[in-house]
Amino acid sequence: MNIAVFASGRGSNFQAIYAHIKSGKINANVRCLISNNPSAPVIGFAKNNRIQTYIIDAKDDGHSKQLLEVLDKHNTQLIVLAGYMKLIQKNIVKKFHNKIINIHPSLLPSFGGKGCYGMNVHEKVFKSGVKYTGATVHYVNQNYDEGQIIAQEHISISPEDSAENIATKVLKIEHKLLPEVVKKICENQLYWINNKPWISKL
Ligand code: GRF
Repeated sequence: MNIAVFASGRGSNFQAIYAHIKSGKINANVRCLISNNPSAPVIGFAKNNRIQTYIIDAKDDGHSKQLLEVLDKHNTQLIVLAGYMKLIQKNIVKKFHNKIINIHPSLLPSFGGKGCYGMNVHEKVFKSGVKYTGATVHYVNQNYDEGQIIAQEHISISPEDSAENIATKVLKIEHKLLPEVVKKICENQLYWINNKPWISKL
């Protein structure tokens, strides 16, 4: 499967996927990295690993045309948003229907939507007093964090936790969950039951 990864920042989820591919656990190719942020650390990782990298400014008119050209050029079959901070334009969502997935650091539909990214999510989780949080991998539609949920994994929150260590614990499960979902999709082991996506046992 030809994968295009979109990322705007640190890139630890991208690295997790890439490590699974390199070690042969996932049968796929990362064809390219697309970022909107020229100073994102993830770009260094992609370049060091000779992954073709494109900086496409989401503010430019016609950026979705540019994105589509790159995606076509690499015969993209799956788009993975791994910390990509921009909304995906309607025409791309339409063309790649159920072929774009995202990882979000909470148990959606809680703590999702515009403004719920990075540490904001974990601070909101911490302040709310919920006893569980986690990570969600979901399909992408034209609204932030609203596409159908594919898989989730949770952690418990204890009285000793802070927003910072919740973030650390959630990131750890993200690095497991996202590659597992990518693997299942690549192995054609995502099933639609009652119009909902399911992957076989994680
Ligand atoms: C992750 O927490 C992910 O859930 C969210 O953005 C963050 C990206 O982290 N969408 P990294 O760039 O993969 O390290």
